[in-house]
Amino acid sequence: VRAINLCLLGFGNVGRAFARLLLDKSAELRERYAIETRITGVASRRLGWLAREAGFDPDKLLDGDFSAGTKCGFIREWLSRARANALLEISSLNAQTGEPAISHIRAALEHGAYAITANKGAVVHGYRALTELARAKGKRFLFEACVMGGTPVFSLFRETLPAANLLRLRGVLNSTTSRIFAEMEAGASFDAALKIAQDAGIAETDPSADIDGWDAAVKVHALATVLMDAQIKIDDIAREGIRGISAERVRAAAAAGKRIRLVARAERRDGRVVASVGPEEISPGDPLAGGPPAGSIIHFELNTLHDLIIASGRQGPDTTAYGLLADFLSIVHAPSLSS
Ligand SMILES: NC(=O)c1ccc[n+]([C@@H]2O[C@H](COP(=O)([O-])OP(=O)(O)OC[C@H]3O[C@@H](n4cnc5c(N)ncnc54)[C@H](OP(=O)(O)O)[C@@H]3O)[C@@H](O)[C@H]2O)c1
Repeated sequence: VRAINLCLLGFGNVGRAFARLLLDKSAELRERYAIETRITGVASRRLGWLAREAGFDPDKLLDGDFSAGTKCGFIREWLSRARANALLEISSLNAQTGEPAISHIRAALEHGAYAITANKGAVVHGYRALTELARAKGKRFLFEACVMGGTPVFSLFRETLPAANLLRLRGVLNSTTSRIFAEMEAGASFDAALKIAQDAGIAETDPSADIDGWDAAVKVHALATVLMDAQIKIDDIAREGIRGISAERVRAAAAAGKRIRLVARAERRDGRVVASVGPEEISPGDPLAGGPPAGSIIHFELNTLHDLIIASGRQGPDTTAYGLLADFLSIVHAPSLSS
């Protein structure tokens, strides 16, 4: 059984869900993969950089007891003291620059650790440089959890679609707006539907990232950057949110057998990639019509396959944590990379 030291940078909803998932899966990781994981580093703005080479007790971390850790001054000292084999970068999104996540991931790769993130900012602003650095160091930089939680999207292309070129994609990427539309279809006003989503812990107190289309725009940006090698900026993505949509319009569409959803698109056009986000009516014959009412779905058109569709239901910190775990296992379980 191989002991692997993990450092968690960010211990919010996803960080805690990841710690819980490790606890739930510990016997399976040991028996099936011969791996024993230890959380030897945990960090956040409030906590600072805490390390414990012997490993923290995850139950205590989840109870908010961080007293076993030694405080480090900066990230390199933290990685070193924690003898980090992998960094889980799960801090807040900075859609404008991707920092400080990018610098933290760079430090981890330079330290000799693998880097796995759920942070879209690190992907849209750092994908090429971080992937290159990981390759130079014989490590990996993976980010499955960034889009559709743990649903395989990036790994699907990386592992199972060799020599395929993605021509266009169209998808419902933001499940919060899907939940709002689903509640409006059931009779709620926009404000009431938003309140339901907030009370369920799906929408933020400040819901603007979801309902103004920013979250979907950053996700399509990440998909286009990685899967289409797009060189675009977030401001290049035409964006319309859902604030102006009336309950009457949503219900009229539903009565006609259609759904309104926030749809993101990316397409190769004249040698470049053009992306957009905006509400669209989805008719019954539309490839996106089969998605779960409050979940996500993407329709891909490749030069080797037609109408590849991937969909999944409710997403949240637990499914995002699974995306992190799947990346981790794909790294440590790949024989050529697991030294
Ligand atoms: N929630 C989801 O379902 C989901 C789904 C897909 C992707 N993601 C992504 O996953 C990441 C984490 O999401 P979350 O829901 O766990 O957020 P969250 O609950 O707000 O937690 C964020 C954590 O990051 C820490 N943090 C923020 N800035 C930091 C910095 N500069 N240095 C060190 N620590 C910092 C915070 O520390 P303090 O609390 O001490 O400030 C907190 O522990 C985000 O990038 C998000 O976009 C989340």
